[in-house]
Amino acid sequence: MKLWGGRFTKPTNQLVEEYTASISFDQKMWRQDIVGSLAHVAMLGKCGILPMEEVRQIIAGLKKVKDKIERGQAEFLVAHEDVHMNIEKMLIEEIGPVGGKLHTGRSRNDQVALDMHLYLREKLMEIIQLAMYLQEAMLAQASQHLDTVMPGYTHLQRAQPVLFGYHLMAYVSMLQRDIERMTETWNRVNVLPLGAGALAGTTFPIDRTFVAEMLQFDGIYQNSMDAVSDRDFIVEFLADASLLMTHLSRLCEELVIWSSQEFSFVELDDAFCTGSSIMPQKKNPDVAELVRGKTGRVYGNLFGLLTVLKGLPLAYNKDMQEDKEGMFDTVATIHGALALLTPMIQTMQVRTERMRQAVTNDFSNATDLADYLVRKNMPFRQAHEVVGRTVLYCIEQQKYLLDLTLEEFQSFSGVIGADVYDALAVETVVNARNVLGGTARNQVEAQIAWFQNKLKET
Ligand code: ARG
Repeated sequence: MKLWGGRFTKPTNQLVEEYTASISFDQKMWRQDIVGSLAHVAMLGKCGILPMEEVRQIIAGLKKVKDKIERGQAEFLVAHEDVHMNIEKMLIEEIGPVGGKLHTGRSRNDQVALDMHLYLREKLMEIIQLAMYLQEAMLAQASQHLDTVMPGYTHLQRAQPVLFGYHLMAYVSMLQRDIERMTETWNRVNVLPLGAGALAGTTFPIDRTFVAEMLQFDGIYQNSMDAVSDRDFIVEFLADASLLMTHLSRLCEELVIWSSQEFSFVELDDAFCTGSSIMPQKKNPDVAELVRGKTGRVYGNLFGLLTVLKGLPLAYNKDMQEDKEGMFDTVATIHGALALLTPMIQTMQVRTERMRQAVTNDFSNATDLADYLVRKNMPFRQAHEVVGRTVLYCIEQQKYLLDLTLEEFQSFSGVIGADVYDALAVETVVNARNVLGGTARNQVEAQIAWFQNKLKET
């Protein structure tokens, strides 16, 4: 017998039952559903809507249902459609018809919204915590590599030398924005929809403030049609998640490039790589590739939900049941990515000699030669031209700038003196960028300290 069976003269078509059911996935929220029901029924008692004796019976029944599910003895049935009706059925089985009083002054529309808010509120916190662990791992690696020079790239062409620690700190900064965005989203998730009823509020004298306090919500939806129609908070989460995955994907792309034989800048730990079924020599950065690949499904989940919502009239529509799988999938995808990237970064071996070699055998100190000429009073545009011709000469002679004799240097400009060699040395070049946000060692140290402080605060 369906909870809504009274109006119907025929049993539901089997395919309809399967097609409309959400129990296969929304059972993930059974804890939230029970917690929400406990708060709701406590409020019904407090407001005198249900006698206290019945409230006690329902609370005891819900606890039995909870234990049963925990012990794996409960069976979720497609016939009962979703997690809400499955649990209500279980409750009635436990305590009889009085269990049917739990749904007083409530609809599945505000109930499902509540469950989603409770679920996401918890998951956002977990994700923020995992993102912080990754930040910590990167900060630790960055602190280890304050003397490791490497080429900084633009257009994937060697541009200017940077410290490896500095490069990592760029990702720590991106993660910081992700954390801040998710924290702001959390504030909008932390609003109570229960009490909205189906769409228009309820005829019972409920106390929403009491429920909000019990469930530790900071706010209450002001308009009930909005409360049951709103899925912005999930869209926001998916958008935050998409951007986080973008950052992780860019990091992973670099790990793939850096661990290639051509670069050999890093060696990923064996425990975090996989092999080939045919080529015995292979060690593949599969995890990094998969994080990059799974970014696509998170974008897909964002677009999927936006598309579901765009044409929906107020208030609840069954279309909105499509909000869940993408959210669960995104939570799982982010969990997996962050949980793996943290130990991958921690165990990654950095080939400092290879990086140094790459940065010495190239022209990434060319800007510094131009800056040197500027300090000798040459206009920058002219200095750029002079260095361009010097580089061209070097390429023809198969030399780098530091291989030139002073006479060769001076053939390009008379202002060049013996101090040019020190000015172009890689350590000088890096430490010369001693401005706020620059790659000089003490600037990177300051960045690390700033973020370590930030992590301590939270
Ligand atoms: N399983 C439904 C969902 O996920 C719960 C809300 C159903 N409400 C309704 N009026 N059919 O959206």
